Amino acid sequence: MQIFENIKSLQIFLSEQRQKNRSVGFVPTMGALHSGHLSLLKQAKNENDLAICSVYVNPTQFNNTDDLEKYPRNLNLDKNLLENVNCDVLFCPTNEEMYPYERANGMAMSFGRLDQVLEGKFRPGHFSGVGLVLSKLFHIVQADKAYFGQKDLQQCSVVQKLVDELFFDTQLVVVPTVREDNGLALSSRNERLSSEGKKLAANLYQALQKVSDALQRGKAPEQARQEGVDSLSKYSEIELEYLEVVDKRNFMPPTDATPQVEVAVCTAAYVEGVRLIDNILVFS
Ligand code: PAJ
Repeated sequence: MQIFENIKSLQIFLSEQRQKNRSVGFVPTMGALHSGHLSLLKQAKNENDLAICSVYVNPTQFNNTDDLEKYPRNLNLDKNLLENVNCDVLFCPTNEEMYPYERANGMAMSFGRLDQVLEGKFRPGHFSGVGLVLSKLFHIVQADKAYFGQKDLQQCSVVQKLVDELFFDTQLVVVPTVREDNGLALSSRNERLSSEGKKLAANLYQALQKVSDALQRGKAPEQARQEGVDSLSKYSEIELEYLEVVDKRNFMPPTDATPQVEVAVCTAAYVEGVRLIDNILVFS
């Protein structure tokens, strides 16, 4: 695996590859890699001549400095995991490389209604930072395809909007969420949970399934949502931020949860002080 910290040298390498007509599949990450990230990489490797992974903990997408400081970082472990899935290129830039100016003077991006709901509402500025760093990365890498996890469903919509609005010649591929046997969605942040915390956190997935079952039994979205909220209320250690049923196309409340509408059940909650998110799609 080739490793680059420097933008220019990565660009020289990639332009040589493009001259050889080699297709490029790109997986942007913030590291602390797990099997969820690796499933994206495996798909990128299968569908392209070259798979490239970026590992960069992007400061502009953290609205909470404590979360940024505590974000797990294991670059050496990440390198081994990437070698194991035959990743061709790792790009792991420094902050100076990615933001060579005062952060306070950085630009902001707006994603309209996506900024007002769910992750956008509870993490002000988060999607602006995601949009900014991905714009930089997409320009640098110019991938044929870029791979994102359904785990961050709203992020997938933000990225699609970014690609459409800024005419990036990169196709977005959404990959299903990889879970533990008990249903807990894999996340780098799970590293900060105790084993008890991980068991507790699996109840989030159970709650999503309860809502999904209720919707499929014909319950109205608000009633179905309430069943999920009630199922979590007995766990005082789970601090629910939101649990919502939304239309997958715009993340707004569905007008009618019929089988024709693709509905997403989305949640965010704190367990042991760690913020976790998850979602499932219904009628899809
Ligand atoms: P990060 O949280 O490291 O996730 C990188 C990619 O892995 C994202 O597309 C995410 O949806 C996907 N992923 C995470 N957990 C997954 C799981 N359990 N199953 C499948 N895919 C999973 O998302 C980010 O980083 C950042 O916002 C980034 C896009 C890199 C911009 O900084």
